[in-house]
Amino acid sequence: MPSTLSPRNTTHVSARRQRDRLLVRVERRIEEFLADEQQRWAAIEPASAELLDCVADMFGSGGKRMRPAFCIAGHLAAGGDPDDPVVVDVAAALELLHSFALLHDDVMDASERRRNRPTAHVVHEELHGRRGWRGEGRRYGEAVAVLAGDLALVYAERLLADCPPHARRIWAELCTELMIGQFLDLRSAAQFSADPERARWIALLKSGRYTVSRPLALGAALAGGEGLLAPFEEYGLAVGEAFQLRDDLLDVFGDAELTGKPARLDFKQHKMTLLMSLALRDVPAVQALFAEDGTAPDPDVLHRLLVTAGVRDRVEAVIGERVDAAGRAIGEALTAEWAAELRTMAAEAAYRTG
Ligand code: IPE
Ligand code: IPE
Ligand code: MG
Ligand code: MG
Ligand code: MG
Repeated sequence: MPSTLSPRNTTHVSARRQRDRLLVRVERRIEEFLADEQQRWAAIEPASAELLDCVADMFGSGGKRMRPAFCIAGHLAAGGDPDDPVVVDVAAALELLHSFALLHDDVMDASERRRNRPTAHVVHEELHGRRGWRGEGRRYGEAVAVLAGDLALVYAERLLADCPPHARRIWAELCTELMIGQFLDLRSAAQFSADPERARWIALLKSGRYTVSRPLALGAALAGGEGLLAPFEEYGLAVGEAFQLRDDLLDVFGDAELTGKPARLDFKQHKMTLLMSLALRDVPAVQALFAEDGTAPDPDVLHRLLVTAGVRDRVEAVIGERVDAAGRAIGEALTAEWAAELRTMAAEAAYRTG
């Protein structure tokens, strides 16, 4: 069940209740799909369990379920049928796509923890070591995680069997954006040149779109709500960007117990987030830290400078501005109840702690 998307505002509890009722069906759909697949493969090839379990463990380890939540909210807000099985399948596909993205992202970012558990590549590297197997353990672990991610993506696609072509086109664009965004994230970290506008674009492409704007558009498209595509796009881009900027702030200032991920990993991986590019472009003391001898700067010093030089506040201000813009975008377009629900969801994405 969604862990942090609980109702906060009782004035629109019924929209939230409708949304959560469908989210329960999404959970069940994925659980049953994965259980069938595990059972089928147990009979064909027992060793496959280790790979299939990797997918099931990622899905089963929790998370906020934001992509299915935005897809379903988009559907219901656009007047979609609450009993439509296709929107459940598409929302389930979005969560499995997210499992794929996380499995690969943790390899790319060399991250050791996800949702308060060791990451798949770490688990399988250790397994390789414990079993005294041949070859390079790290390569083995990473290969298993990459394949598990691939499998999650294949499963996501399978859940789209009944998805109509106009919605498939949104899905295809969402997947392309995610992969190009992830590439640009790696590329800009390697290049390490400060460009705040580009950092914002990458945040949107690698994360904001596949998390918020495209799931909303998918839900609305399945409901036949073409009239809402423009306000949803404006709202979704704003909330999506705020969501990723919060993620970047949580990396530096968050509580690793609550995020379930290692703290300050973006420093270590020299990610060119908006936070870092503003600091590097505008704060001479940060420039000096990086100019010294090419070695990674002391994370505590960098952390302090981001606060004292006001960079953290500047990113908070962008988040605040994005949340306001999102509220304005849907102001006129929806019923009061759904407008209120989407405003609550915007605040939950932008001001989360985990
Ligand atoms: C983490 O996404 C990856 C990003 C796109 C930043 P979430 O913060 O939605 O992760 P879970 O699903 O709740 O664990
Ligand atoms: C990841 O961005 C975006 C994805 C497509 C998964 P991050 O690399 O910042 O996500 P976390 O912080 O590891 O969750
Ligand atoms: Mg990462
Ligand atoms: Mg990443
Ligand atoms: Mg991050």
